[in-house]
Amino acid sequence: MNSTIRLVGISGSLRKKSYNTILLNAVKELLPAEVTLELLSIDGLPLYNGDFDIPDVTQRPAAVVDFRNGLEHADGLIIVSPEYNYSIPGGLKNAIDWASRGTDSPIIQKPVALMGVTPGLWGTVRMQLAFQPVFQALGMQQTKPEILVSQAKAKFDTEGKLTDEDTRKLIIKQLLSLKEQIIKMRS
Ligand SMILES: Cc1cc2nc3c(=O)[nH]c(=O)nc-3n(C[C@H](O)[C@H](O)[C@H](O)COP(=O)(O)O)c2cc1C
Repeated sequence: MNSTIRLVGISGSLRKKSYNTILLNAVKELLPAEVTLELLSIDGLPLYNGDFDIPDVTQRPAAVVDFRNGLEHADGLIIVSPEYNYSIPGGLKNAIDWASRGTDSPIIQKPVALMGVTPGLWGTVRMQLAFQPVFQALGMQQTKPEILVSQAKAKFDTEGKLTDEDTRKLIIKQLLSLKEQIIKMRS
């Protein structure tokens, strides 16, 4: 069996200068050994429509097929997202809904690490809470510790490098625990 662990990362923000996408990119240099991370965009996904899904999955829009294919070989997920109106951004929830359907769902029962970045103090806490029933519905086990990067402006340099040492340590811990969980599931 291939020992490399393949993670797929999704940002909940489409904004070019999104703090959450900046963090997702910064995570690449904090990965444990033998772990890879590929970013998958939710941009361009249509709104969920059951008329183009199960039972006739050949009807799925091309963007949905690409998105699901991008998740298929992932051993685990990293989701980094802002909070919109105290909850999960609609675009991200829509992407999860498209990925969740069918016995061939590429996300059901996959381990997941969740993080959020806010320019404020404790934004993303409610997004992280709103994800709990979603993870429960999909049998996705979330790794700890939970990560909230507050006051984002002070945590990155102009190149997008995560400079806050405490946050780096927490993320390394979370990624290690994600890796361990995946190894446990494989054995
Ligand atoms: C539609 C919308 C709703 C928002 N709702 C909240 C909110 O409920 N709580 C919060 O702390 N910030 C909220 N914000 C502010 C975002 O946290 C902030 O814009 C953040 O930088 C977005 O993440 P990004 O930089 O990755 O795009 C909201 C922003 C938008 C666009």
